[in-house]
Amino acid sequence: MPSFGLIGIQWGDEGKGKIVDLLSEKADVIVRFQGGANAGHTIVVNGRRIVLHLIPSGILHEGKYCVIGNGVVLDPEVFEHEITQLKSEGYLKDDSKLLVSATAHIIMPYHKKLDMLRESKGKGKIGTTGRGIGPAYEDKMGRIGIRVVDLLNRKVFEEKVRQNLEIKNFIIRGYYGEEGFKAEDIIEYYDRFRNVLEKYVSDTVEFLQKCVAQGKCILFEGAQGTHLDIDHGTYPFVTSSNTVAGNIMSGTGIPPFAVQGIIGVCKAYTTRVGEGPFPTELKDEIGEIIRERGKEYGATTGRPRRCGWFDAVSAKRAIAINGIKQICLTKLDVLDEFEKIKICTGYRVGDKEYSSPPLDTELYWKCVPVYEEVKGWKTKTTGITDFRKLPGAAKDYIKRLETILGVRVSIISTGPDRAETIVRDSFFKK
Ligand code: GDP
Ligand code: IMO
Ligand code: MG
Repeated sequence: MPSFGLIGIQWGDEGKGKIVDLLSEKADVIVRFQGGANAGHTIVVNGRRIVLHLIPSGILHEGKYCVIGNGVVLDPEVFEHEITQLKSEGYLKDDSKLLVSATAHIIMPYHKKLDMLRESKGKGKIGTTGRGIGPAYEDKMGRIGIRVVDLLNRKVFEEKVRQNLEIKNFIIRGYYGEEGFKAEDIIEYYDRFRNVLEKYVSDTVEFLQKCVAQGKCILFEGAQGTHLDIDHGTYPFVTSSNTVAGNIMSGTGIPPFAVQGIIGVCKAYTTRVGEGPFPTELKDEIGEIIRERGKEYGATTGRPRRCGWFDAVSAKRAIAINGIKQICLTKLDVLDEFEKIKICTGYRVGDKEYSSPPLDTELYWKCVPVYEEVKGWKTKTTGITDFRKLPGAAKDYIKRLETILGVRVSIISTGPDRAETIVRDSFFKK
């Protein structure tokens, strides 16, 4: 069976959780390879809603292996909370099916504190989720990070915490004028997480290599979106990991040939949460209607998401970077009531037109969208599961997106529930 990566091609919250859950039925293993609890992946099954931040969205299907890969930054508090929540709802009956990489880095209390302090007291606010993601990846790259395997060894953990606190406390106290951390407090508090994590920790590289050799179907679940990628996003208004398909290999330790395709996920419009350029943003009543109809409030922080029309310029760039041929288009139903719908096909700054996103963020801020207008369908599409039953104008909108983007729309989502989906193509043919 082939293995796939699922990657958001906008600024996150494309509906990856729903699609990963849907496709997990046919997969054997579901893997997170980057990011951390900044992600908020919502799944709705028979009206029951669950939001996952860390554990892969395949976990609601019994019998599937779920893996938190080495590229993830793991917050043990969130991990413990998610395990408890899943078990209380009757999921995760077999703990041996959930694997955590021994070399994933751990989010520490000082990462979260530094993240918050920078956002509240520093200049150049990013609008982060406050989950300590940036500071944790900085420590990883600075080679002072603490990994899961280090936590398991109390002596090593203690040394690393003390070494880190010398610098962190200096910054927290000296620069921000706030109270620092006591090493003993952290060391003691994290004792409990050693116990929580221990049974899930393994050499996930070895496990995934075996799965590849046995021809198992692996789904790699992207978090965030391509335009939040540290290299390819709207820097500095990005997250601190590579969110693109290229990072699947580094974040899991499997070779490139093990992934047969990358599926893109995007909404039928665009949203963004946090700061940064967003040319198609609608600060008017239409934006408000999209936010209310689409319930566009952050799954992690509850912040209202910024809403706008579909941006084909940035989507095309993401499709190219990830090598996407097929996409899942979500939240089509949110556009049901509009007379007219716009698609952004270019950007303009003064007299100059751009067919791809400018690399200079200052210029990106100034971009004004060039729109193509299409007819709305003004008919309810919520819950439709058969492409033929979609109103003509909705089909035309999808076909137009296919033409502009040069991809096939293989899945169309018409509601949050697992069942509210049109599947046009199966990804799982041998
Ligand atoms: P993710 O981070 O990419 O997994 O996306 P989020 O879960 O953060 O945000 C997507 C939101 O849209 C969630 O609340 C989903 O339940 C919801 N959703 C997903 N697909 C659809 C859809 O087709 N229609 C509607 N109305 N809601 C959807
Ligand atoms: P999912 O997986 C949407 C955004 C934050 C902020 C920037 C940096 O649910 O799509 P960070 O906390 O990562 O340092 O914040 O990235 N961001 C997301 N936006 N969806 C996400 O994840 C996001 N994860 C981070 O809002 O602008
Ligand atoms: Mg989300």
